Amino acid sequence: MEVIKQVSTIREKVQALRCDGKRIGFVPTMGALHEGHLQLLRASASENDVTICSIFVNPTQFNNPDDYKLYPRTIEQDIELLKTVGCDYLFAPVAEDVYQQQPLLQFSFGSLETVMEGAHRPGHFNGVAIVVSKLFHFVQPHRAYFGQKDLQQVTIVKQLVQGLSFDLEVVSYPTIREESGLAMSSRNKRLTDKQRQLAAGLYRALQLAKSHLTIKPVSTIKEEVSAYLNTLDQVELEYFEVADVNTLQPVDDLTGVQEVALCLAANVGPVRLIDNILVNL
Ligand code: PAF
Repeated sequence: MEVIKQVSTIREKVQALRCDGKRIGFVPTMGALHEGHLQLLRASASENDVTICSIFVNPTQFNNPDDYKLYPRTIEQDIELLKTVGCDYLFAPVAEDVYQQQPLLQFSFGSLETVMEGAHRPGHFNGVAIVVSKLFHFVQPHRAYFGQKDLQQVTIVKQLVQGLSFDLEVVSYPTIREESGLAMSSRNKRLTDKQRQLAAGLYRALQLAKSHLTIKPVSTIKEEVSAYLNTLDQVELEYFEVADVNTLQPVDDLTGVQEVALCLAANVGPVRLIDNILVNL
């Protein structure tokens, strides 16, 4: 596997690969790789001629400076993992090369970004859209892979690709979980053992909500999720939503609805985690 740090070098490399007729699969990440990323990388390696992974902790998508500062950075370990899953190139740029000047662009994703993560992390999706657009320009992939754990991100990236006519396919894969049900996330690396156990409660809360979905009003389910998570030490619920899977808008009445996403965000100790499950009704 070749490690490329310069934007100009990845551009040259990709141009040569495309000239040779190679199909490029791309897995953008912020590093601290886990099984969820590795699943995306294996899929890319099997579905494309060449796989490129990027590791870049993107400053413009963090609305909380501490979250950015404390985001786990494990590049040496990541490189070893990438070698095991058929990744051909790691693109690991520095911020000054990606952002030669402060971006002034403002994306708007309408109602897709006024709910959930967008509502609770102002500017987050603008930063994601800017960096994903840049990465797509640098890497020029035929397919780009994202995890469903970041459901709203996947929806917004699809909108970005459609809206700006990027010539690529967005592929998403289901969330990979630990045995306890905890969704794999780079941020889990910041949890203590105790907090990791408590964090499994987020998945249990989603399962509880799912089990009552067709028998209780949505408002009651929201109260139950909140009450359940309140019983867990160090866990503070930020939001729980029953959302339309396509529009991501809150659903209050399930009459005639076929599929919903149950989504939540919570702080476990100092670590903010998100999770979701899709439910067919
Ligand atoms: O999901 C992530 O890791 C990041 O939001 C992404 C897509 C790599 C953009 O920085």
